[in-house]
Amino acid sequence: MDVLVVGSGGREHALVWKIAQSSLVERVYCAPGNGGTAGESKSINVPISSDRFEELTQFATQKKIEFVVIGPDNPLADGIVDYMTERGLKVFGPKKAGAKLESSKSHAKKMMTGLGIPTARYGVFEDKESALKFARENDWARVVKEDGLALGKGVYVCDELSEVEASLEKLYGINQNAVLLLEERLKGEELSLFLLCDGKRTLTFADCQDHKRRFDGDKGPNTGGMGAYSPVPLYEKNKHTIDKQVVRPISNALADGSLEYKGVLFIGIMMQDGVPYVLEFNARFGDPETQAMMPRLKSDLLPALIACAEGKLDTITLDWDERFSCCVVACAENYPESSSKGEEILLRGVPDDAHVFQAGTAMVNDTLTTNGGRVLAVVTLNEQPSLAREAAYSALKSVSFKGMDYRKDIAWRVADQCHSK
Ligand code: AMP
Ligand code: GLY
Repeated sequence: MDVLVVGSGGREHALVWKIAQSSLVERVYCAPGNGGTAGESKSINVPISSDRFEELTQFATQKKIEFVVIGPDNPLADGIVDYMTERGLKVFGPKKAGAKLESSKSHAKKMMTGLGIPTARYGVFEDKESALKFARENDWARVVKEDGLALGKGVYVCDELSEVEASLEKLYGINQNAVLLLEERLKGEELSLFLLCDGKRTLTFADCQDHKRRFDGDKGPNTGGMGAYSPVPLYEKNKHTIDKQVVRPISNALADGSLEYKGVLFIGIMMQDGVPYVLEFNARFGDPETQAMMPRLKSDLLPALIACAEGKLDTITLDWDERFSCCVVACAENYPESSSKGEEILLRGVPDDAHVFQAGTAMVNDTLTTNGGRVLAVVTLNEQPSLAREAAYSALKSVSFKGMDYRKDIAWRVADQCHSK
């Protein structure tokens, strides 16, 4: 069969790479794709951007594409799955109503509270004055979040009231009609859990830990993600509690019809005092979490994605490589403030056992060039996290482009530990 993957990031390169390995697949189209998806065997880039639902649907229909996989959040929030399924396509991803778990934080909070899933205390506000009053009256309300999709940039984690006041000034300065949440400031270690959902049931996919801050030591501005590792020992340690307090309420809600959701549910969790507080939901795979997870998946991914769309996840089991993966993102010098364009990327002597997933790249006249903020990621596997990390940094030496930068401490939480399985 032929498959269409929609999107152009490192996540989509990892999805295309994995789907192309399926024995069911003849061709994987990627719209619009990047330099990496252009270079995979079986894959072909299609120059249609992910917001052009009509053109994407026409293309898929004409090419008799049997399955479409949506990568990014924006088209999901805008209803691409509704649009395509109404026109007869089979699609992986939630409909617009399901994607609201990511596109509206207040909606997600209501769902969590309704299902009894642990989450930070909060208030929702539509004007600056009432938000300010709430922050002054409640000394726990120190996290400010915009309600809509903000690509990780609409969250201000503050220590002091003065910082909350400054963030509110900033947010309402940009948008007078902003709807925002004030949340309790939690403290703890984070992990991401990915659940496949078929409308009736869930199947735990994998766990991962991202590094959102730009600089070493988790300092600097939030980014889309500078690196990741998988699996996460913190998840193993708290698996039972997370299953009971987070996964089971979601599975029960799907089973009894009070929650409608198909696709992958990405759950951001912070462990505080042994309680798994859910910080956010995303309606898609993570980036760069997908790059870290896919090389660990031994099973064919495609039947699992199709089973989500068809409501048949009970027929699927997933087999995982037990080794740790470490994924390090190489980015433009001034990312996230600015990106890089048109600089030649050299890949010389990439070790056979390292994976290079491209993101902000383009193939221009047979030359691979930079075309974005996060340019590519290198992923390696090893039984020991420290060795997976060493291999990733060693493989990164085979990559170069002008202004290339990266964090030097990806996987620092686990890299010094020894793990026996
Ligand atoms: P979100 O987009 O909601 O996941 O927020 C982005 C990041 O902000 C999270 O990964 C956390 O590091 C941080 N964050 C979000 N909510 C809270 C909270 N209630 N307490 C502490 N940190 C938070
Ligand atoms: N890496 C975080 C995200 O994909 O939202």
